[in-house]
Amino acid sequence: MSSERGNWGSNVGFVLAAAGSAIGLGNLWKFPYLAGKNGGGAFVVVYLGLIVILGFSLMLGEMVIGRRGKSDAFGAYNNIKKGWGFIGMLGILCCFIVYSYYVVIAGWIVKYIGMFIRGGLTEDPVLTFGNFIASGTSPILYSFIVVVVTAAIVLKGVSGGIEKASKIMMPILFVFMIVIVIRSVTLPNAIEGIKYFLKPDFSLITPAVIIAALGQVFFSLSLGMGAMITYGSYLPKDSNLIKSALYIPILDTVIALLAGLAILPAVFSFGLEPTAGPGLIFITLPRVFAAMPFGNVFGIMFFLLVLFAALTSTISLLEVVVSFVVDQLKLDRKKATILVSIIIAAIAIPNSHSFGPMADFKVFFGLNFFDFLGYLTDNILLPVGGLMLCLFVGYVWDKEDLKNELTNDGDIAFPLFSAWMIGIKYLGIQLLSLILLQAVGITGKKMSYSLVIIFMIQILFHVLENKRKVSAV
Ligand code: TRP
Repeated sequence: MSSERGNWGSNVGFVLAAAGSAIGLGNLWKFPYLAGKNGGGAFVVVYLGLIVILGFSLMLGEMVIGRRGKSDAFGAYNNIKKGWGFIGMLGILCCFIVYSYYVVIAGWIVKYIGMFIRGGLTEDPVLTFGNFIASGTSPILYSFIVVVVTAAIVLKGVSGGIEKASKIMMPILFVFMIVIVIRSVTLPNAIEGIKYFLKPDFSLITPAVIIAALGQVFFSLSLGMGAMITYGSYLPKDSNLIKSALYIPILDTVIALLAGLAILPAVFSFGLEPTAGPGLIFITLPRVFAAMPFGNVFGIMFFLLVLFAALTSTISLLEVVVSFVVDQLKLDRKKATILVSIIIAAIAIPNSHSFGPMADFKVFFGLNFFDFLGYLTDNILLPVGGLMLCLFVGYVWDKEDLKNELTNDGDIAFPLFSAWMIGIKYLGIQLLSLILLQAVGITGKKMSYSLVIIFMIQILFHVLENKRKVSAV
């Protein structure tokens, strides 16, 4: 069976593909603008702290479920413990939704590559960007290009498609990134931007900054959606999960930091505002490129690297859904890929129109289609998926079985097992509950009480568990 499902050709291939999943618009588009908006260095420090205390642990948690369950996200949970597949189902749904709006932004990137190839900006960047995203058909066609290219790669399977594409795109991405960073930090006055980005002003750390950083950790590492479960399921039994779970967050974080260093110093150097929000790379950066010698070349390079990052993520988003359709609904890979891609293309239309004809069409909670889906995934599905992942690894999965899978039946040492468990069980559950409580409007004192109650229940469980162990002996 497992050979039919596909396997990674090499461990390097797996790490590059998983890093490709993690590294995406989240790093290059969202991280710099979130840092720009949330106090620069203050946001970066909180983000790094959360990567260390949560990112590694949950990355390992997802990968170990995948390799043990040897199936798509739904099947993997179910194979480990019957009845728990619904957690994976939530993740698959989340990937599906994220994919449907991710392609819209990725389409904008394609448009910008074309624009820089043709010589760059011809009018004011605010107008260029605003008119483009608001128009009815052009952005949709660009997003279809992304859907088709992604499908063409996923069609070719795990090692022949996804791994191969990642092995080509990821190294180019790294090289282009370094070139752009060097250009940016050597601009006059770049030091102001570097300071803003890397020198934390701790007084700017607020609960809102922490919550924004926490959500970004999840999104950026592709966690809580079954992506790393799906990729982990194609790993051979003798691979070293613990090492891989270290590499991927490190690579992802390095690229996020480099993205900040590529963008913010340049923005400061040209006296522009770092707080532009989502328009930072589409409006502010083109201004920078326009004012710079050989700006178009740097523009092409920059948007090409963003496109590669986005494509290795769309591949992963599609693969999560396709692997479910193949494993559970027993369609062959080709049919599954085409079917899912057609549905995605259809949903991309209202997502794209949310910036134009449907901008004022409110779906729920006063949000338009695109904003509503973003809210649903970032504030509900992602944290619920993450919370369930922590509950599953911390409480549902048999400890011995889990330990055996992690250590390849004792072949690999994992002295930090208990620390890892504490990270998942206590830090993971507390922090994810915090995001969820906040998302449903429980804040302030009520939030603190709720978190204390959850902690007390956990302590109770801990005591009961130990009692059972003692009486079993
Ligand atoms: N991590 C991706 C990025 O930074 C986005 C993402 C979130 C993703 N969840 C995912 C990609 C699941 C693939 C699969 O852009």
